[in-house]
Amino acid sequence: MIIRRIWISHLTYHPILAYNQYQDMSEPSLPLQITSFQEYQQVYDRSIADPEAFWAEQAETFHWHKPWDRVLDWNFTDPRVEWFQGGSLNITENCLDRHLTTRGDQTAILFEPNEPGDPEVKLSYTELHTAVCRVSNALRALGIGKGDRVCFYMPMVPELAVSVLACARIGAIHSVVFAGFSAQALADRVNDADCALIICSDYNRRGAKNIAVKDVVDDAIALGCPSVRHVLVHRNTGEAVKWNENLDRWYHEEVDGQPASCAAEVMQAEDVLFILYTSGSTGKPKGVVHTCGGYMVYTAFSFLNVFQYQPGDVYWCTADIGWITGHSYILYGPLLCGATTLMFEGVPTYPDASRFWQVCAKHKVNQFYTAPTAIRALMARGNRFVDGHDLSDLKVIGSVGEPINEEAWEWYHEHVGKGRVPIVDTWWQTETGGMMISGLGGLSPQKATFAGYPLPGVQMALIDKNSGEEVSGNPASGLLCVKFPWPSILRTTWGDHERCRTTYFTTVPGMYFTGDGARRDADGMYRIIGRVDDVINVSGHRLGTAEVENAINEHAQVVESAVVGYPHDIKGQGIYAYVIVADGVPAGDTLREEIVAMVRQEIGPIAKPDKIQFVDELPKTRSGKIMRRILRKVASGDTGALGDTSTLLNPEAVESVIAGVV
Ligand code: WTA
Repeated sequence: MIIRRIWISHLTYHPILAYNQYQDMSEPSLPLQITSFQEYQQVYDRSIADPEAFWAEQAETFHWHKPWDRVLDWNFTDPRVEWFQGGSLNITENCLDRHLTTRGDQTAILFEPNEPGDPEVKLSYTELHTAVCRVSNALRALGIGKGDRVCFYMPMVPELAVSVLACARIGAIHSVVFAGFSAQALADRVNDADCALIICSDYNRRGAKNIAVKDVVDDAIALGCPSVRHVLVHRNTGEAVKWNENLDRWYHEEVDGQPASCAAEVMQAEDVLFILYTSGSTGKPKGVVHTCGGYMVYTAFSFLNVFQYQPGDVYWCTADIGWITGHSYILYGPLLCGATTLMFEGVPTYPDASRFWQVCAKHKVNQFYTAPTAIRALMARGNRFVDGHDLSDLKVIGSVGEPINEEAWEWYHEHVGKGRVPIVDTWWQTETGGMMISGLGGLSPQKATFAGYPLPGVQMALIDKNSGEEVSGNPASGLLCVKFPWPSILRTTWGDHERCRTTYFTTVPGMYFTGDGARRDADGMYRIIGRVDDVINVSGHRLGTAEVENAINEHAQVVESAVVGYPHDIKGQGIYAYVIVADGVPAGDTLREEIVAMVRQEIGPIAKPDKIQFVDELPKTRSGKIMRRILRKVASGDTGALGDTSTLLNPEAVESVIAGVV
């Protein structure tokens, strides 16, 4: 410990010198790793008393081309947040180059394919570095450079990880779109960011199916994507694809033969690293923007502390890189810390519901990170799929994406953790970039369904929704907000800063509003209750109810619709749609199927309604707003306590909605 402190204080004045020196050191320096709950409490207090000193200390452990002039400059009114202003760096030098002398031969990415019998792929840090450099050179040869946007629509294969990092290496901005979205949704995202390039595969393997993703890209292009200059196609399954001579290029033809080294673009700390689209309560999904310096520091710090990663451990996060969890905790966080990160191509139930546990046993996984929806789905298949697998190497198991219910928590604890392995329930968001409230594996007290305490540097607040005042003391409940910037807070929403301001910074002036409600118990531990806005969380995927309604309303015979979430045993929330159809249109199963098909076409299968109820009218307020509170209760089967409906414009609508519940 003492040695580390001396080292850090030395670094304070010489970050560049430090980098040159640590080329000769046995290990690259990493952010502080807390080792006890008592230390957490001390570090937390210190991080709040002087956030700038605290984060500067963490940032100094990385390689910077030029040290920053100012640690933090911010206000939450514009809003404007700048960390490490004036500093310059490249995140991939920190993910890759600086590990080469000490762990060049260590596996960086361990790839487990969809088919259990297919060979696994191990990319060492040296191999990953070479692969990233080749792709970086190929991208530059295609005319892609700093600030250009590159869209990804790919399966979970090593080429995805390599190419995302290649973008970061040359300063191109990556925008990864989950490959389950529809052509329309893909085109919307490509056009919002004016992407110059799309990188995709020919086909994706998912369980027993191969999915023709290049076809989806072709359809998106046909819808009109004027900014796209090329489509780079990775040959994954090798099945036939249509070819557009003007646009399409084979990945292997562009990449093979490129030089194995590539100078990294020197980026300003506040240059954009990536855009990631996420749903909000209104309008189309927005592009959340993260920047290089703060994101790097925070993802590494949080990874190291929450998972208590030790050198040599094998870490596995089952998320898809199409979501923020994959960005921060499959790629950047782990690689920044020199970890071995497992990347899984398949699905949890293929060939059967024991796949996760087989993979854990096969690779002796030490940290495992998944979503409650997966836990519930596997729990429902029965204990025989998990019991009997050797999970003795597990040291920490994590949960993310949605509230974990008590039954799922207990099952995870007992059957996966064998009652011995600590669970970290990590609360965070696309916008926060990294984990915000979570236990530190094995150090913090844990309680089923509680995410626990905020990470160092994270200043949470609960706000009374009526008074707008912060609720102090414990226990307490309210709107979950953050009072002070942390390094990986979103900087803006792409192309529309005003939307960022109104979405996150006006509900509670002077604070970042998360959209979640939470409570704090007598011990000060946080429990997340869920979204308080019109966002629903289906199997850990965020969807705006307005977005789904817009898709339903595209159907020619639909007059109006209202979408709400309802409790679903496996998905957490299911999608319940109330639909008014045009006069004389037969409302039955055929129309239901057409509506579902419409949603698949507009957004993708993840957004398809689980239940559709045809109604004659929707309960509305006198100002014409749909009373979603009532619709939510009806969809949840909770019709006993609907509250006062007399102020409605059409109270009789409530009766008819209740009568027609599906
Ligand atoms: C929810 C995922 C309860 C929450 C990283 C948040 C959670 C939204 C948890 C963000 C958790 C995420 N407990 N709820 N541990 N983690 N959420 O942007 O409602 O896909 O606002 O980021 O998921 O979803 P997103």
